[in-house]
Amino acid sequence: MIKGKSLVSIDDFSKEEILRIIELAADFEANPNQPLLRDKVIASLFFEPSTRTRLSFETAINRLGARVIGFSDVNATSTTKGETLKDTIIMVSNYADLIVMRHPLEGAARYASEQSRVPIVNAGDGANQHPSQTLLDMFSIKKTQGHLDNLEIAMVGDLKYGRTVHSLLMAMSYFNPKFYFVAPDELKMPQEYKTFLDEKGIYYEEHRDMQEVLGKADILYMTRVQKERFSDLIEYERVKNTYVLHNAMLEGTKDNMRILHPLPRVNEISTDVDSNPKAYYFKQAENGVYTRMAIIASILGVK
Ligand code: CP
Repeated sequence: MIKGKSLVSIDDFSKEEILRIIELAADFEANPNQPLLRDKVIASLFFEPSTRTRLSFETAINRLGARVIGFSDVNATSTTKGETLKDTIIMVSNYADLIVMRHPLEGAARYASEQSRVPIVNAGDGANQHPSQTLLDMFSIKKTQGHLDNLEIAMVGDLKYGRTVHSLLMAMSYFNPKFYFVAPDELKMPQEYKTFLDEKGIYYEEHRDMQEVLGKADILYMTRVQKERFSDLIEYERVKNTYVLHNAMLEGTKDNMRILHPLPRVNEISTDVDSNPKAYYFKQAENGVYTRMAIIASILGVK
């Protein structure tokens, strides 16, 4: 049962719970104004920059009729005076019925869930997990492919620091996918995630050349090289433009293939791809509102 649960890592939700969120997201897409949470206050704590995640969560909260408190600039909070995350969370959990939190440190969301009296939804913790992004990605995959089973999924770019690909591969492992990981040596999928797939008997290949996998993919999941996670900016400059998808490269790809990207993009998808019917990333971002409505409504027990 999802009611009362925190969503810190995607494996906090079972396969059935993931499918339930996707089903509810479709319901909210068909009828997006459902003020089911008029008596609730939800905190939106963004210790790290965000456009889509914060605004789609706050849109979801507003469409559900709840009120939102919080901050998007940590420099305007008492964290700058030395207040700890623990004290901040204890206090905010006395104000709000649910906390949505993004934090630059891996593990911060799990730690917050251990201090909080109310459920925590992890809106991204460092390079670790971004589970609400995964649920909206899966809603997008289901909508574009009609199902989630036996899909060939190419993940391209920063597979080391890109938290969205870490959460997504874990959740898709319920549905017998084939993965093609395309990354430069410096940004390969971390061993812990490959071990996870090995233990589940999930097929994957590693490539350096994106062209080798384009013709096979049902889903092409592009990612940004995460500049903010590099300690050495010279290394970032060396790898930042390793993969750039141009419209001409989509010739010969499967008809059902769709391009996803959690956004923001920098250079990895040329703007000449945007008008190709296979480009799905802006619709994917819209799907975030319905999916986040489903997550909040389920955790607060009104759906
Ligand atoms: N996809 C995503 O997390 O985008 P933001 O960083 O803009 O929230």
